[in-house]
Amino acid sequence: MSESNVITISTYEDAREVFRQKDLRQALYDDGDVVMADVLVNLHGDEHRARRRLENRLFRRDTHSWYERELFPPVVQSTLAPYVAEGHAELVTLSHQMMMNLAALTAGVDRPLGTPQETFDLYSYLMLFIEGATLAHFAGNKEAKREEVAAALRAFDAEFLQPSIARRRSEISRFEAGEIEEADLPRDVLTILLRNQDKLELPSDVVLRETCFYLLAGAHTSATAFVRTLHNVFTYTEAHPESLADAQSDLAFLQRCTHETIRLQPSSPVALRWALADIELANGTLVRKGDKVEIDLNTANREQAVFGDDPDAFDPNRELPAGVWRWGLSFGLGMHACIGQDLAAGMDSLGGVNADDHLYGLVPVAVNAVIAANGRPDPMNPAQLDPNNTRSYWGTYPVVFGK
Ligand code: HEM
Repeated sequence: MSESNVITISTYEDAREVFRQKDLRQALYDDGDVVMADVLVNLHGDEHRARRRLENRLFRRDTHSWYERELFPPVVQSTLAPYVAEGHAELVTLSHQMMMNLAALTAGVDRPLGTPQETFDLYSYLMLFIEGATLAHFAGNKEAKREEVAAALRAFDAEFLQPSIARRRSEISRFEAGEIEEADLPRDVLTILLRNQDKLELPSDVVLRETCFYLLAGAHTSATAFVRTLHNVFTYTEAHPESLADAQSDLAFLQRCTHETIRLQPSSPVALRWALADIELANGTLVRKGDKVEIDLNTANREQAVFGDDPDAFDPNRELPAGVWRWGLSFGLGMHACIGQDLAAGMDSLGGVNADDHLYGLVPVAVNAVIAANGRPDPMNPAQLDPNNTRSYWGTYPVVFGK
């Protein structure tokens, strides 16, 4: 078999055009079928449109507002509280626990016991699902890892998903019998899928994978952004002491720090697509059917003509031309644009003035909770980058709390 031709797109405008191309199909998870087969981000055309339209119903302003103001704050506080009481934490583990707890609510994975052991079990599953989704980057025995992930999916199904499905089916029956209002149904992806399972012809294994996908899409990206943003806030306020007051009292500042972090360090440094037809891009590049197109987000997000002088610098007060997002293209664009963007990173603060009902997003809210507890890098225990990963993930990030 001949190797496919890879076309790399590195400019901001070309990347925007490619994201919007209907004849380019998702290619990022080609080896990740064990978790990613038939999940939203891997669908194309009508199938994608039908599923997305349905799931969009959850990701509306009223749900975001309810999540950010009512559902999530107690979860953020209860995840953080034991660490604050102890006076220290390791942020990488804490971030995954916190964001997994939040993503479980969005996905619809119940936590019947609510014990630390249960959190740990779910966290172990999540880590395996992440490995399954990104098998393309796995350095060891892929087949053995695929088997391990498949076994974890079966165990997760029995332990977490089936009880969550049973509770939702019972609530849906009560709603259909007029015993409860629609607003009383759980507001999560699993409930939406179950209510529309027939219409979308969703077999149970797809419901399983779609729920797992939401768990990892919500948790992993937000957890990484949370640790990186905190690191950037710590470093920036040290170099710019005049901004410390903003970090301690202005959620809008922390939201801008989150956006700037996500621009500089997108959750995936590339987006990948397969060409389903010959395409000529506006710059004259010819993409042939069967070619692979790689969007280099790291480069597109740092284009000087778009993001201003010193585009590599972390500057939460950066001034941008109208129509350019502070997070660059890190939430994608077009048909696969991130469905959880507003939930994770809030609304764009247009013109810098936020209305009373402005939503800041769960990453800035969680960052704020750490700063409010006077969380700061542990001077005795410097943070270390993960040596096994080339994407500049933190391996450990010890912090201390309190005075
Ligand atoms: C900092 C946080 C996040 C970042 C940086 C991020 C980034 C992205 C990107 C780049 C894409 C597009 C992928 C592509 O075009 O190939 C995407 C899609 C997606 N994201 Fe996020 N995401 C974040 C948080 C979330 C959260 C919290 C959720 C769930 C509630 C979520 C759910 C999804 C889903 C379901 C898709 C697929 C959409 C589709 O294919 O129609 N993401 N995300």
